[in-house]
Amino acid sequence: EETGKSGYDHFMLKEIHEQPRALRQCLRGRVDELGAAVDIEDLGDLSPTGVQFVACGTSYHAALYGAQLYRRAGIPAQTFLASEYATAPPPIGDALVVGVTQSGETADTLSALREARHRGARTMAVTNTVGSTAARECDHALYIRAGPEIGVAASKTFASQLAALNLLALGTAPVDRPRETIAGLRDLPGQVQALLDDSRASAVAEQYQDAGAYFFVGRGHQYPVALEGALKMKEITYKHAEGFAAGELKHGPLALVTDDTPVFAVVVGDGEQARKTVGNVKEVEARDAPVVAVTDGRSDVERYADEVLEIPETHPEAAAVLANVQLQLVSYYTAKGLGRSIDKPRNLAKSVTVE
Ligand code: G6P
Repeated sequence: EETGKSGYDHFMLKEIHEQPRALRQCLRGRVDELGAAVDIEDLGDLSPTGVQFVACGTSYHAALYGAQLYRRAGIPAQTFLASEYATAPPPIGDALVVGVTQSGETADTLSALREARHRGARTMAVTNTVGSTAARECDHALYIRAGPEIGVAASKTFASQLAALNLLALGTAPVDRPRETIAGLRDLPGQVQALLDDSRASAVAEQYQDAGAYFFVGRGHQYPVALEGALKMKEITYKHAEGFAAGELKHGPLALVTDDTPVFAVVVGDGEQARKTVGNVKEVEARDAPVVAVTDGRSDVERYADEVLEIPETHPEAAAVLANVQLQLVSYYTAKGLGRSIDKPRNLAKSVTVE
């Protein structure tokens, strides 16, 4: 097992560092030389009039992001926790039902996909595992090609899911400015590598590793990143961590904010959404919470931040991948500082095959 880690202390750190390669593999052959067209095997002439995503855990966060891509392209799209899907199933019409599942074996997700098929839906698996149950049972399979992931807490597969969902949206929906999105995707592997080479995340982690709780906020594409940042933190550090839509802070969670609860704020760009999130950040700063801004530096969030984790300027869709890498590293180094069992956290399994 030690040799499998290629010199890294943990599989998780190795897999975090494998993201540039995983992203390249995901994109290979699927965008043409000009970066204009998308060619994904097995999509046929799919052009869904609606999309319903079902997923669990980290994959659920990727699915939230995927649904945003469709809605921005004018296609109605919703995301469901797979374990909740069958309790009050939405009308399917001729929607495509997409299960996002790294393993392709998660019982809750398989069950939701079966429910959808039973109700006449076309189904698709977005998965890392060729020949998995989800891939076999669905009408379509889109492989994210991240390579094997050993760490129980998902890392590189999340990045690859986000990239693959962009490809799926580009291939099946009238995405606005597709060339720019594709250019953003193609820049990602190099940008992730540069970020990994130069991240201050371990210093930030060390500074806050004794905090009472951690909060993560973002909006739009960065909202699923906030949720994923918190999930990663709780999975591998066993500390209380929650992710919130930045705008929701004032509707309750602000009561939890103290000088012992660092708030990680993902702020991208300099538009209206960023401006609003900076407003939310000011509110936590006024309550003496340490603020860690994960930002491309285009807004003035740094004025209200105690620490900054930089990401390069790019499109908001691609920025989500980059911001998430910074948060992965913060969770990893926090867990390491606390001496946790990073690759095999207590009580958790890589793939959960019971409902
Ligand atoms: C388990 C893992 C999580 C994962 C979830 C969904 O709970 O511990 O890391 O996100 O399953 O897995 P899937 O294979 O369906 O993506």
